[in-house]
Formats: sequence, C-alpha cells, structure tokens
Amino acid sequence: MNKLYNILFSVFTLLVHQVLSADPSNQAIAFIPAAVQNGPSQGQFISSGGGLDAPKVKPINGSAYDWWYFDAVSDDAKSSIVVVFYTASSAGVPAESFPSTINSVSINAEFPNGTSFAVSIPAGNATIVTVGDGTTGSFEGTGCGWTSTPDVTQYLLYVDAPSFGIKGTIELHSVAPAHYPCGTAVRDQSLAIMPDVGWANAVPDSRGVINFVINGSQFEFTGAGYHDKNWGVVPFPQSVGSWYWGHGRLGEYSIVWYDALTPSGTEFLSIYIACDRKIIYSQCSGLQVRPTGANSTYPPTLSSGNPTGFYIAADLGNEGILEVEVSNEYTTVLTAPYKRWTGQLKGGFQGSEVLTGVALYEQFAFNP
Ligand SMILES: *[C@@H]1O[C@H](CO)[C@@H](O)[C@H](O)[C@H]1NC(C)=O
Ligand SMILES: *[C@@H]1O[C@H](CO)[C@@H](O)[C@H](O)[C@H]1NC(C)=O
Ligand SMILES: *[C@@H]1O[C@H](CO)[C@@H](O)[C@H](O)[C@H]1NC(C)=O
Ligand SMILES: *[C@@H]1O[C@H](CO)[C@@H](O)[C@H](O)[C@H]1NC(C)=O
Ligand SMILES: *[C@@H]1O[C@H](CO)[C@@H](O)[C@H](O)[C@H]1NC(C)=O
Repeated sequence: MNKLYNILFSVFTLLVHQVLSADPSNQAIAFIPAAVQNGPSQGQFISSGGGLDAPKVKPINGSAYDWWYFDAVSDDAKSSIVVVFYTASSAGVPAESFPSTINSVSINAEFPNGTSFAVSIPAGNATIVTVGDGTTGSFEGTGCGWTSTPDVTQYLLYVDAPSFGIKGTIELHSVAPAHYPCGTAVRDQSLAIMPDVGWANAVPDSRGVINFVINGSQFEFTGAGYHDKNWGVVPFPQSVGSWYWGHGRLGEYSIVWYDALTPSGTEFLSIYIACDRKIIYSQCSGLQVRPTGANSTYPPTLSSGNPTGFYIAADLGNEGILEVEVSNEYTTVLTAPYKRWTGQLKGGFQGSEVLTGVALYEQFAFNP
C-alpha cells in the first residue's frame, strides 16, 4: 500500500504542478449548482481552441445535461469499472436523477467472478476547473472527483465514499490522442455526434491502473482505460432512438466505435483508430455496427433481449476494411433502455493477420 500511495502522490504532485504553473488567463472555473436552473441553456457544438474536457452547457436547465464518463476494462475482460459524474436534469437523463440535486456520481464495478457492485451518490454543488484542455472536477459531499493534466494525457480519479462501501483511485495514462466525432481535436470542428448530442473524447485509450477496496474486497487491475463526455440541451431520450458505442484494443490498435439512430431512424456514425500514439483514422462515416447471434434484432427496442455480440465493419479507404467480431464476456448493466458489456474482440484488416483484444461497450434502445 505504501508503494501505491508514493506513486499516487507523485502523480498528484505532477498534476497539481502542471495546473498551478498554467497561465491563469487560460483557466476557467464553472460552478454548477445542485438546483436545476430556469431559462434557456446554451450548449456548445463547435470546438474552440481549448477546453476539450470543459463543461459544454450553461446553465443546466430542466432539459439539459452534461456528464463526464470514465471506465476501464482488464486485459482478460473480466474486471471492469465505470464512473460517471452527472450534471443532469431529471428530464435530460431520466435514469440518473435524484429529487434533491442534478449532480451525482454513479459507479459500477464488475468483479472477475461476475459479481457486480453499483452505487449512485447524490452530490451538492459541483465545481469544474478547466486548464488548457483538461479539467478538475469536485462534486460536493460525495468524496469523489478527478483531476487531469492540461493536455489530457494523464487523469487521476478518486473515490472516497466509505458509507457507500467504496474507496480507491483510477489512473489513466493516455496512449491514444483525443478527438471529436469527425476527426482530430482542433478548432472549429463539429462536436455533435448526432443532432443535439455533443461528444468530446479526451482519452480514447490509456493504460488504466485501478486500485479499489469495494465492500471490503480488494478490486485491482490494469487494463484499457477511457474517458469522454457527452452533453445536450434537449433531453437525451428525445435525441436518441438507439445507439451502439464501445472502445477496445485489437492487437496494437486502439479503437472507438459509435453507430446510432435518431428517434426517426437516421443513422450517425463515428470510428476512431489509433496506433503508436497516433491517429490512423477518425471519421464519421464508413462504419456499420450490428448485433449478432440470438436476439440480434436491428434496430434494437426497449424489449430486445441480449445479443451474443456485435459485428463491426469499417471502410477506412486506403487503409482497407477493418472487420471485428465482438463477443460478450459479462453483461455488466441490464436495465432497459441501457445495456453494457465487457467482451473479447477478434478481427483485423481484410487479408491481414487476425488480431485479438478486449472491449467495453454499450447499447441504448428507447424505441418501443
Ligand atoms: C450551493 O450553492 C448555492 C448557490 O447556488 C448556495 O446557496 C448553497 O449554500 C451551496 N451549498 C453548499 C453546501 O455550499
Ligand atoms: C433549456 O434550454 C433549451 C435551449 O435554449 C431550450 O430548448 C429548452 O426549452 C430549455 N428547457 C427548459 C425546461 O426551460
Ligand atoms: C465474488 O467476489 C466478491 C469480491 O471478492 C465476493 O464478495 C463475492 O462473494 C464473490 N461471489 C461469489 C459468487 O463467489
Ligand atoms: C455491500 O455490502 C453490504 C453488506 O454486506 C450489502 O448490503 C450491499 O448490498 C453491498 N453493496 C453493493 C453495492 O454491492
Ligand atoms: C433473448 O432474449 C430473451 C429476453 O428478451 C431471453 O429470454 C432469451 O433467453 C434470449 N435468447 C437467447 C438465445 O439468448
């Protein structure tokens, strides 16, 4: 444990040093009250020069939401953790609402034996400090928060909520550059992954180091870590009919996929592939993700059963066609309209060697 705290202390010192030494004119502090705000919300859907991980909605009114999502899956796909910091009205994200506050922290962990742990912790006011592209988030009364370097290559997330049975940290050491729905993270890009839904992917893949004690049991692993954020000023279920999203590793490649339908059935796509800390492909076309095996009805509905996996085909132009079979290992959340899995990836570029890896992925299906 001493070694762990020494490592954490040096990571933390490095992060604090970078935050304090940043140009103060490049800092922004957002205060997000626990109470829903009246009046119109402004949502940002075109990128600016910085602030990739910054709040994108101001204020959070009765239909708005803005969340920060973190996860990690172990190299054998059997252990995983997801932590989401919500600033969301009850109409914006219905499943995550508390009557008393729009701010909350939701944590799901899957032990290697398949036992799952889930808590949702209501927060008081939240504060997000943005420096460069990075953020530091504090959610009052939860014992939970995160901090990052301004270049979003390092994140440290902490949970200290003994009354909910959980304490620990997630470190993300990025191995894949940040991006937006249709390409690299530069100025004047669209942030809409589909109409009215914003997306910024600060950490598409990382070396994730997970150290927790959950309900008295050690929960520790290293694996593929990930961080992104979504937001909108129209309730999420009004913008989305169904969606498949996931991230994983295939050999040396880091991949992030997204294939969704609006309520009226228009499809929106995004595919990202990186290798050796460089983006090979980041586009919002040339992709198809479909369920496979039993219960592979497409589009999925609220009452669809669990598919056995997914088939991903990405047409990467000169790079060739990437085909990946995704097979579920554990179903970690199964509460309509939402499902989440960890699983194995197998595939590669057509005509090249077969590569394998692990993934964490999800489905929303709002249509009856
Ligand atoms: C939260 O912020 C509100 C102002 O929006 C303030 O009145 C309240 O005291 C704050 N709560 C705490 C616990 O600081
Ligand atoms: C919140 O703001 C958005 C954007 O201005 C607006 O469309 C929506 O009606 C507002 N919601 C509420 C409940 O005021
Ligand atoms: C699975 O592991 C957890 C954590 O070690 C433990 O609490 C639980 O009892 C185990 N469940 C089974 C069915 O072995
Ligand atoms: C943690 O353990 C307590 C007592 O054993 C149990 O009641 C609770 O359901 C567990 N919490 C979770 C989220 O698994
Ligand atoms: C398909 O989903 C239903 C639940 O809707 C479930 O009862 C059934 O076992 C699933 N079929 C298979 C083969 O997994």
